[in-house]
Amino acid sequence: MKTIIVAGGAGFLGSHLCDELVKENKVICVDNLITGFKDNIKHLLSNRYFDYVQMDICSKEFFDKFSKIKIDRIYNMASPASPVDYVEYPIETLMAGSMGAKNLLDLALIHKARILVASTSEIYGDPLEHPQKEEYWGNVNPIGVRSCYDEAKRFMEAITSAYKRKHNVSIRIVRIFNTYGPRMRLTDGRVVPNFISQALKGEPLTIYGDGSYTRSFCYVSDLVAGLMALMDSDVDTPVNLGNPEERTILEFAKTIMSLVSSKSSIKYMPALPDDPKKRCPDISKAKKLLGWNTRIDLKTGISKTIDYFKSRINVD
Ligand SMILES: NC(=O)c1ccc[n+]([C@@H]2O[C@H](COP(=O)([O-])OP(=O)(O)OC[C@H]3O[C@@H](n4cnc5c(N)ncnc54)[C@H](O)[C@@H]3O)[C@@H](O)[C@H]2O)c1
Repeated sequence: MKTIIVAGGAGFLGSHLCDELVKENKVICVDNLITGFKDNIKHLLSNRYFDYVQMDICSKEFFDKFSKIKIDRIYNMASPASPVDYVEYPIETLMAGSMGAKNLLDLALIHKARILVASTSEIYGDPLEHPQKEEYWGNVNPIGVRSCYDEAKRFMEAITSAYKRKHNVSIRIVRIFNTYGPRMRLTDGRVVPNFISQALKGEPLTIYGDGSYTRSFCYVSDLVAGLMALMDSDVDTPVNLGNPEERTILEFAKTIMSLVSSKSSIKYMPALPDDPKKRCPDISKAKKLLGWNTRIDLKTGISKTIDYFKSRINVD
């Protein structure tokens, strides 16, 4: 049985990861709840193989505490992740990707632990290559509104790679493309919760731009399986994980309206600054080296997510 830190474990992805890891490991979930919720892990709190520690990964107290506890593996999922959140918390986002990432790498170094860091498709910026392969270096505005997130993640990839080169730390880097599912916040501003909550309330679905921008959406259980496969693999270079089934935002809005049986209309708003026009992962590396692929199709995944949001609509 391994002892595993999941930093950001009370968030959307981190909590699903804790659910899977705790089946065979001792899991320590560390979260400062800046964008996460204890509710996401409340079903795990009575599990003797699960610990929850409310702490900021950027703090000295966090490093001091965990330098004294033997750790085998670390998943670094800790960062505000939705545009609404990182625009509200730009400095905290930059600190999580820099100071927080360094603290976790130092823990990996002293414990000889393997560390997986959650990077993002946003490091490709508004991509000039399509679909995006791991070799593509990206097209990022370093001072735009999204730069606090994009550049924090680029820095995190750089410092993680430096710890491999300089200190031989065992690293894994995952570039996650849009992922959705239960435990997303209805109000987190990402397109899936936005559209579903608007459709459930009978409000117009808001499309930024003309609806021709594309995205691809991965269901959370597929993503979590990919994270664990990458951690267990010997691949120490970045790997894209996401669902390569690309759709325009307009097609996606129509799919949600039909699954909710909603009579909502569509409201077009001006495109958001630096919003990537296209996004679709090339997942051939993950398929070949991890034997990983997506299993949940969009309709199945969205239906499960709608059921979850129906249960939350009067809570959030
Ligand atoms: N969901 C996606 O589609 C997606 C896509 C690309 C990358 N990612 C990455 O995956 C990770 C998880 O994303 P998510 O969608 O679950 O977001 P989330 O906001 O639900 O979860 C992030 C968690 O990290 C915690 N956190 C943030 N800063 C912290 C700090 N300094 N110390 C301790 N805890 C901190 C938050 O409280 C939250 O619980 C993030 O690193 C994100 O950048 C997610």
